[in-house]
Amino acid sequence: MKRKIITYNFVLTEVLEPLKNDYDIEFFEKINPRTDAHFLQALKEAEGIIGLALPVDAELLDRAPKLKIVSNNSTGYNNFKLEEMTKRGVMGTNTPGVLEGTTADAIFAILLAAARRIPEMDQFVKTGRWQQHLTTEQFGIDVHHKTLGIIGMGRIGSEIAKRGHLGFDMNILYHNRTRNLEAEKKYKAAYCDKETLLKESDFVVLMTPLTAETENLMGAQEFKLMKPSAIFVNGSRGKTVDEDALIRALKTKAIHGAALDVYQIEPVRPNHPLLQLPNVVTTPHLGSATFETEQKMAQLAVKNLLAGLTGKVPKNLVNPDVLNN
Ligand code: DGY
Repeated sequence: MKRKIITYNFVLTEVLEPLKNDYDIEFFEKINPRTDAHFLQALKEAEGIIGLALPVDAELLDRAPKLKIVSNNSTGYNNFKLEEMTKRGVMGTNTPGVLEGTTADAIFAILLAAARRIPEMDQFVKTGRWQQHLTTEQFGIDVHHKTLGIIGMGRIGSEIAKRGHLGFDMNILYHNRTRNLEAEKKYKAAYCDKETLLKESDFVVLMTPLTAETENLMGAQEFKLMKPSAIFVNGSRGKTVDEDALIRALKTKAIHGAALDVYQIEPVRPNHPLLQLPNVVTTPHLGSATFETEQKMAQLAVKNLLAGLTGKVPKNLVNPDVLNN
């Protein structure tokens, strides 16, 4: 009998094709993993899971007695309850090292879009309202030579700093758990505390992973510290931001605008108050979503999965303690 693999949400199916001879692959999309009977049945036999944002917690793990590995098709792995996985000998993996440039491009794109009001101006042209020279009503704000504050200077943060420094002559500030000496040297990034960064930056970009420490990292106090002319950009995870506090800051003009790729609940509902504000640019968690990069991510996720299933140590194991079990 073939060993069972589950795919959840999204992985490029072509990458899974070569596995079909040896594995029985079941695809699940748009289901509730807590209640879908077919999924729960498949879990009983599954040795591997590959996919995006599946909540892997005690409840799921208890229903998956044969599970060896969950391979995330993403860099983020906040969907893993690592302690529970490690306790049960289940490996977790992610896909770093292939998506940083692509994600930095996307985050820089929404930063620029918010500063220059590109989505609004696109509608201005398409709805026939462009009938004379632009006035102050349509003006945006400059990006070049401004101060870019990056909270979370990991691999993607560094790529954003590179674009800001080399492409836009920006002054780079950053805050991180540990110093990033390479970014300091290459992009003249200056390390500072969070408060200083918030007070001095014209653009605040949040790129931290979601952890217990970073949940609601940006709240009412933090938005109050920002300049009224500043733009807030979130490319991390929605739960790092108190969305009610952000809405208040935007409505009261405590900050100038926001550009968001991530939300507390995804997909964000169409009537969400954030979507009603003209000074907010939104995208649908598209950071890594290019053909080239999604392919690389899927290939890496499959490699990790196969390593885990064949008794090897996957390259991107995020809970190495599991090897001591
Ligand atoms: C990642 O890789 O974590 C991206 O945010 C896609 O989920």
